[in-house]
Amino acid sequence: MKICRTIAECRSIVAGYRFAGETVGLVPTMGFLHDGHLALVACSETRVDRTVATIFVNPAQFGEAADLEAYPRDEERDFEMLRAAGVDCVLVPDVSEVYPAEDETIVETTRMANILHGQVRPGHFRGVTTVVARLFNFVQPDIACFGEKDYQQLQVVKKMTRDLAFPIEIIGVPTVREDDGLAMSSRNVRLGTKDRQAALVLSRSLNAADQAAAKGTTIEALHDVIKNIITAEPRATLRGLDIVAAGDLTEISGALTSPAAIMISVEFGGILLLDQRVVTP
Ligand code: PAF
Repeated sequence: MKICRTIAECRSIVAGYRFAGETVGLVPTMGFLHDGHLALVACSETRVDRTVATIFVNPAQFGEAADLEAYPRDEERDFEMLRAAGVDCVLVPDVSEVYPAEDETIVETTRMANILHGQVRPGHFRGVTTVVARLFNFVQPDIACFGEKDYQQLQVVKKMTRDLAFPIEIIGVPTVREDDGLAMSSRNVRLGTKDRQAALVLSRSLNAADQAAAKGTTIEALHDVIKNIITAEPRATLRGLDIVAAGDLTEISGALTSPAAIMISVEFGGILLLDQRVVTP
């Protein structure tokens, strides 16, 4: 596995793949990898000849400097995992190369970035699309893989890719879960034992919503199902619950007649966890 610290190194390796007629997949990450990231790698490997991963903790998508500082990092372990997973090349760029001094270009999906989770974390999705657009330009892949767990991020990236006509197919990869149902996340390691146990309330509430949807229900009733289960867990603070049209994330109400995306964010002892499910009538 090639480890590139500069964009130029990575471009020259990708040029070699192209010269050999090979297709290229991109797996963008912020490091501190877990099985969820490896599922993105596996997905890329089944579709293209070469997989390039990036590790970059993107300052532009963090609201508070403290959050950025607290973000877990372990580069050597990440390299080992990527190597074992068969990644061909990893780009670990410096902040000064991704965001050159006095740069002034941002990329934003003006509606989608500022609804739902974007209202709770102003500027977050602008930071994501700005860095993803840059990573797309650095690597110029044929496909790029993103987790469905960050459902709004996936839709925002799809929209940006369509709007800017990047010739890149965006692949959504299903959420990977621990054996007990907790969605994998780099944040899980920061949970204490009791909060880790309490966090199972996320998948439990989504399973209940899934069952209600299969029997026939309304959007309002789905809100209640989830809210009741989460508020019954004393260690959990519900920070966000959105049920919107799958794909374009527009508001919906009344009877559930088409696929709906449920997105929840719940805090446990200062750690915010996300989960998501698309339910169908
Ligand atoms: O999902 C993430 O890890 C990040 O938001 C991403 C897509 C790598 C952009 O920094």
